[in-house]
Amino acid sequence: MSTSLGWGILGAGGIAGAFARDLSTGGHRAAAVGSRDGERARAFASKHGIPAAHEGYEALVSDPSVDVVYVATPHSHHLEHALLAIEAGKHLLIEKAFTTTGDDAQRLVDAAREKGVFVMEAMWTRFLPTMVAARERVAAGDLGEVVSVVADHSQMLDLSPGSRLIEPSLGGGALLDLGVYCVSLAHAFLGPVARIRAAGVVDDAGVDHRGAAILEHAGGGMSTVTFSMETLGSNRATIAGTEGVIELDPSFYGSTAYRRRHESDHDEAAESFTPEHEGRGMQFQAAEVERCIAAGQLESPTMPLDETVAIMRVMDEIATQMRDSSRG
Ligand SMILES: NC(=O)c1ccc[n+]([C@@H]2O[C@H](COP(=O)([O-])OP(=O)(O)OC[C@H]3O[C@@H](n4cnc5c(N)ncnc54)[C@H](OP(=O)(O)O)[C@@H]3O)[C@@H](O)[C@H]2O)c1
Repeated sequence: MSTSLGWGILGAGGIAGAFARDLSTGGHRAAAVGSRDGERARAFASKHGIPAAHEGYEALVSDPSVDVVYVATPHSHHLEHALLAIEAGKHLLIEKAFTTTGDDAQRLVDAAREKGVFVMEAMWTRFLPTMVAARERVAAGDLGEVVSVVADHSQMLDLSPGSRLIEPSLGGGALLDLGVYCVSLAHAFLGPVARIRAAGVVDDAGVDHRGAAILEHAGGGMSTVTFSMETLGSNRATIAGTEGVIELDPSFYGSTAYRRRHESDHDEAAESFTPEHEGRGMQFQAAEVERCIAAGQLESPTMPLDETVAIMRVMDEIATQMRDSSRG
C-alpha cells in the first residue's frame, strides 16, 4: 500500500535505519530525517534516499513535507519528542516502549487527543502477517477459549559502558526494551491484567537485567513472561486455548512462523503458517498508520492507545516488584 503521506524520521539511530529500509520496501515515502547532528542527518538521508535532512528535531517537525513523525529515540525521550511533534500538528508513530511510565504514556495520549492527531505505539509485531493470521484463528474459535500465554524474550545485548541499555537516564533495562513484547502479546490475547507477581535482577543503578512475571488477567487467563538482556533464551511464545495451541517460533517478537496444534493431533500440526514478505516487516505497521489516517481514525483498533497505556501500567508494577525482589 502506498499513499501520499510523508514520513519524518526523528533520530538517526539503529532502528531508524531498519524502519527507513522497510518504508521503502513497503512503497511508503520517507520525506525527511532529523538528527541532533546535521552531518548524521545528511549521511542517513543520503544512505536511504531521503530528500530532506534536518539538524535538530524542531526543524524536522516544522517541515511541511512531513505528515507523520516516527519517533526512534531512546524511550526516555519519547514523551518530549512526541510532544514537539504534537505541538506542530503532526501524526505520530512512537517506538516501543511508548514511554518509561504509565503516567507519561497517559500524558502523551491526552496531548494527542487534545490536538486531534493520530498516535500509535510502534508495536510492529501486531501487524505482521503471522500475528494477523493468529488473531484470525483465535477469532474463528480454533483454539477454543484462550486461557494462557507464555512468552520469552531474551537476547545477549551489548551492555558495554555507554550503551543506552544500561543507562538509567535513557530508560535502560530489559523490561522496557524486550519484556514489553511479551506483556503486549499477553495483553493482546488475554486482555486487561488484574494481578501481577514479578521478580528480577536489578543492578545498583536501578537497571533491570532480567526478570519474570506471572500475570493474572481479569478475564481469568494467565500469562508467564520472561525477559533478559544478558542471556539467550527460547524466544518462543505459545497462545493456548481450551481446544488448541498456537506455537510461535523464535523469535516470536519478529516475523516468524507458527504451528497450530490440537490435543488429538499429537505431533501433527493442524496448520502451519510461514510468512512470506520482503524486508524485516516494519512496513506493515506503517501501512496501518496510513490506513487509519486515510480513514480519519486517530488511533488504531489493533493497537489502541488505552491498551498502550494499560500495558505501560502493567510494566510500572513489574518494575516496582523487580526492584523490591532484587533488594530482598
Ligand atoms: N522495533 C524494534 O524492533 C526496535 C528495535 C530496537 C530498538 N527499538 C526502540 O527504538 C528506540 C531507539 O532504539 P535504538 O536501538 O535505535 O537506539 P540508538 O541506536 O541508540 O538510537 C537512538 C537515537 O536517538 C537519538 N537520541 C536523541 N536523544 C538521545 C540521547 N539523549 N541519547 C542517545 N540518543 C539520543 C540519537 O539520534 P540522533 O543523534 O541522530 O538524533 C540516537 O541515534 C528505543 O525506544 C528502542 O526500544 C525498537
